[in-house]
Amino acid sequence: MKDGQGLEVANADADAIDALDFLREEWLVFGKRFDRFMAAADKQETCALLPVLAANLALSMNSVEGRALGARYLTRAQAMSKGIGPRERAWLDATQAWIGGDTDKSLAIHEKMVAEWPRDLLAGKLGQLHAFNQGDAEALLRIGEHLFAANQDNHFVRGMYAFGLEECNRLDEAETQARRAIEMQRKDPWAQHALAHCLEMRGRLLDGVAFLQSVADTWEDCNSFMYTHNWWHLALFLIDLDRTDEALSLFDTRVWGVCKEFSEDQINAISLLARLELRGIDVGSRWSDVASYLEGRTHDHFVPFLDLQYLYALARADKQSAVTEMLASLEDRAEQAKPFEREAWADCAVPAAHGLAAHARGEHAEAARLLGQAMPHLRPIGGSTAQRALFGAIHLDALVRSGWNDAALKILQTDERERPAVPSTKRALADLYRKLGRAEQAMTADYQAEQLARQYRTAA
Ligand SMILES: [Fe+2]
Repeated sequence: MKDGQGLEVANADADAIDALDFLREEWLVFGKRFDRFMAAADKQETCALLPVLAANLALSMNSVEGRALGARYLTRAQAMSKGIGPRERAWLDATQAWIGGDTDKSLAIHEKMVAEWPRDLLAGKLGQLHAFNQGDAEALLRIGEHLFAANQDNHFVRGMYAFGLEECNRLDEAETQARRAIEMQRKDPWAQHALAHCLEMRGRLLDGVAFLQSVADTWEDCNSFMYTHNWWHLALFLIDLDRTDEALSLFDTRVWGVCKEFSEDQINAISLLARLELRGIDVGSRWSDVASYLEGRTHDHFVPFLDLQYLYALARADKQSAVTEMLASLEDRAEQAKPFEREAWADCAVPAAHGLAAHARGEHAEAARLLGQAMPHLRPIGGSTAQRALFGAIHLDALVRSGWNDAALKILQTDERERPAVPSTKRALADLYRKLGRAEQAMTADYQAEQLARQYRTAA
């Protein structure tokens, strides 16, 4: 039989095809009715695609339980592999590689799949997930291009293509594609998200708030990742607009509290608290609530980008024994790293983790030194450019606090060039210029900061 994308599915009946079509739409719209698909996969006796896709759903939870569940579904899928075609075989191989930690192989298989079967949108979605987790923006885009060439009528695909373009810093093209997708279908949270990234990268703060607020009603049916993540994006714009009280309120009402056990909810919360603190906001006891969900994650090591945020939260919550345990475990993980992931774990995650722990303790010179060592290797740890910017911001804070003014100045000047309309960047520059005895530049930066802040107050 063929599914709704015209792809051949081996050993399938009408119920299996319905379940596959349902899952594709639900995954691409970031819905939350996955139980329905899992029930269909549990009942399935012949069609291997159902349990193998259930395995991918489980693995995408970034948890020990998810990995065990994924392995069980893969075993069931392998037991149904008689008579399957090459596309199903590729799904089995990519999933097996993921469970074995060979995510570079999973990514390579998914890339080949979208070249051969560009109508297999979930092969593209999973390929983009692996590319994202390895910080491989080019692969993210290549997959988007393959899908787009064969599915131009599909708004979800435009959103996926747009995000690849955005991560490759092709912001104008990304914005065009994301806006076109949203014109085709307003309720496309991933296309909305790609547009949020375009606006974030350029510091178009008022545009970002206005756009996200205008579509926030469409997030109600989203799963907790997409719901909390799009609200997180809105909070980032608010922080840069100096509306930190509103951002903190979003933390309490939207970002933290939907699914406190899920890694994606956790990192949105952690990153938001850290960014608020970097702007001098007292976040009260919030770290301790977040950290209480992280103590079981000290040996996780699914994606370095996730680990580093868990570690920072544990350190800010003063969970010393968990921090010590996690630092040691990270060092072991780095020693066991496969060649493709060595830079991420050994060159970045280990020094960055020690640097983040030092920053959380207030040892800023040590934090600046260790984070400085890690920063050139940041990209392969995974995550988006906007998410990884958190580590740059903590590094900058450590540099400023430990008086490494020249290094801090360089970073701030780059920030100002890329995102010229952020008042706090201008204020930080003004402070630095004053420290460096450059009074005239300090006055100009202060003036510009005040002009921007006034403009934003009027707009609010
Ligand atoms: Fe994002």
